[in-house]
Amino acid sequence: MATLPDLPTAMALLEEGHRRNPGPWMAHSINVGAAARHIAARLPGLDPERVYLLGLLHDIGRREGVTGMRHVYDGHRFLLDLGYADAARIALTHSFPVKDIGAVFGAWDCTPAEVAELSSALDAVTYTDEDRLLQLCDCLAIANGFCLLEKRLVDVVMRYGKAGFPAWVHVKWAAYFDLLHHFDRLLGHSVYDLLPGVEAITFNRSV
Ligand SMILES: [Fe+2]
Repeated sequence: MATLPDLPTAMALLEEGHRRNPGPWMAHSINVGAAARHIAARLPGLDPERVYLLGLLHDIGRREGVTGMRHVYDGHRFLLDLGYADAARIALTHSFPVKDIGAVFGAWDCTPAEVAELSSALDAVTYTDEDRLLQLCDCLAIANGFCLLEKRLVDVVMRYGKAGFPAWVHVKWAAYFDLLHHFDRLLGHSVYDLLPGVEAITFNRSV
C-alpha cells in the first residue's frame, strides 16, 4: 500500500479537515508544503512533490477540533488508519526537533496511554532530512505566507505559553536554529533565498 496519498487525495483530506474545523491551519499547511517543496527542489535526495504532500498533511490532526498537542496524536492515528505511514510519521515528528515526547510548547491533552503510544512511535523513528525539513518549514510558514523563523517561534510561545514561559523553550529554539543552519549549509546559501515574499510577510507589508 502507498505510504502517501496522491495530491488530489491529500488536498481532499485537508479540505475535509478544514470543513470540520475551520481555521488558519489549512493555509499554514499549504504554505509549509510549499516552503518544503521550494527547498527540496534544490537538494538532491529530497523529493519536492513528496515533501509538499507531507506538508499538506502534517497538521491534519486539527480536523478533530481545537486542541493542543492532541493534534499530533489525532493526525498520527488518522493517517496510520488510512495506511499512509510516511505522512503519519511526519504528523508525529514535525513537532519534535528535540526528539523527546516531553519537549513540547503546548499542553498534552491526551491520556497517559496515548502519550506513551506516541512516545514509543517517536523512539522508533530515525530522523532523515525529510523529517528535519518539515520541522523547519512548520516554523517558516504562517497562514499568509513565509516568514522569518524568529517571528514564528515567538508566535507559538505567545499562543501556547499563556500559563507561563514553557520549559524547553531555549532547547527547542536552539534545535530550530540548528535545522535552519543545517539546510543553509546543504544549500550553500540562505534558506530564505528560496522563500518568495518572506520579507514582506515578516515585516507585515502587503504583498
Ligand atoms: Fe504546523
